[in-house]
Amino acid sequence: MKRKEFIKKCGYACLGSSLAMFLLESCVTANVTGKIVNTDVFVPLDSFKDKKYIIVENQRLQFPIFVSRISKTEFSAVLMECSHQGAELQAFGDTLECAAHGSKFDSRGIVKEGPAYDNLPSFPVRIKENQLKISLKNV
Ligand code: FES
Repeated sequence: MKRKEFIKKCGYACLGSSLAMFLLESCVTANVTGKIVNTDVFVPLDSFKDKKYIIVENQRLQFPIFVSRISKTEFSAVLMECSHQGAELQAFGDTLECAAHGSKFDSRGIVKEGPAYDNLPSFPVRIKENQLKISLKNV
C-alpha cells in the first residue's frame, strides 16, 4: 500500500469513528430522579440538554418512566413495565425491550414485537416553567 493511499484510508476510518461517536452520543439516555408534587412528577427540561430520551426514577410508581423528546415542545412518557407479565423494560436507544420474553416497544409505548399485545400505559406531559410535568393522575 502506498503512503498516500494509507493516509487516505486512515482519514476515512477516523471520520467514520467520529461520526459513530456523535450518533451514539445523541441517542444516549440518562437517569433522572423526578420530583413528586401531588399527582405530578417534575423533571428539569435541561435533563434533555443533549439527550433524546431520559429515564425518570420516581417514588410514586413501582417502575421508572421513559420520556422521549419528539420535538422541542412535544414529549411522550410511558411506564417501563411490560404489558405482557409485568417485567421491567430496558431502554436501548428508542426501543424498550423486555428481558423476560423478548417483547419490544417503540419510544411511544407501541408494541413492535410480542408476546405482549397491549401498548404501554402513557402519561400526559406538559412543559411548565422550564420543567417537564408528567401527570400520574390516571394511574
Ligand atoms: S413479561 Fe415482558 S415479554 Fe413477558
